[in-house]
Amino acid sequence: MKNCILFTTKHGSAEKAALSLKEKLNTETDIINLKNVENPDISNYDTVILGASVYIGKIQKQMRKFIGDNLNELLNKNIALFIMAGQKEKAQETLYNAYPSKLSDHAFAKEYFGYEMILEKMNFLEKTATKAQGVTESKSEIMHDAIEKMANHINEL
Ligand SMILES: Cc1cc2nc3c(=O)[nH]c(=O)nc-3n(C[C@H](O)[C@H](O)[C@H](O)COP(=O)(O)O)c2cc1C
Repeated sequence: MKNCILFTTKHGSAEKAALSLKEKLNTETDIINLKNVENPDISNYDTVILGASVYIGKIQKQMRKFIGDNLNELLNKNIALFIMAGQKEKAQETLYNAYPSKLSDHAFAKEYFGYEMILEKMNFLEKTATKAQGVTESKSEIMHDAIEKMANHINEL
């Protein structure tokens, strides 16, 4: 069994979650940032975990493109999906809408891994939008229990 975690991030929280997941997996796991490697070859992996963060309702375009270009191959693998998203109360709906329904229906695990809002990492517009939502200080709420749950699920495959 060989795993691959493919992720996209803007400010790093999806990468932190991806690294934490990798640490908890007990089979060989490669980890790839789709912003650095555009269309990695996934033919050698049994399980592919896709993770991205949500901005204005959408995951990063590099993740959407990768999925669009490789959907048939992905549908022949064990798939797990996660998102990072700031709106906790809408997390399940956001998770469901983030990935194409064919892939989401095929996935054996789907988890919301929490979020980080680090004001110092944001540009002026992001900071303004974030403050307008009532967030006035940086926050980190990465959900380690959800990461553990997905890791256990993958380790049981
Ligand atoms: C400008 C901006 C827009 C965002 N839009 C959404 C959104 O539509 N829905 C949501 O749940 N979270 C939203 N968030 C919160 C991010 O998803 C959250 O901060 C996430 O952890 C960022 O992940 P990253 O560090 O991997 O880029 C937004 C954050 C910023 C700064």
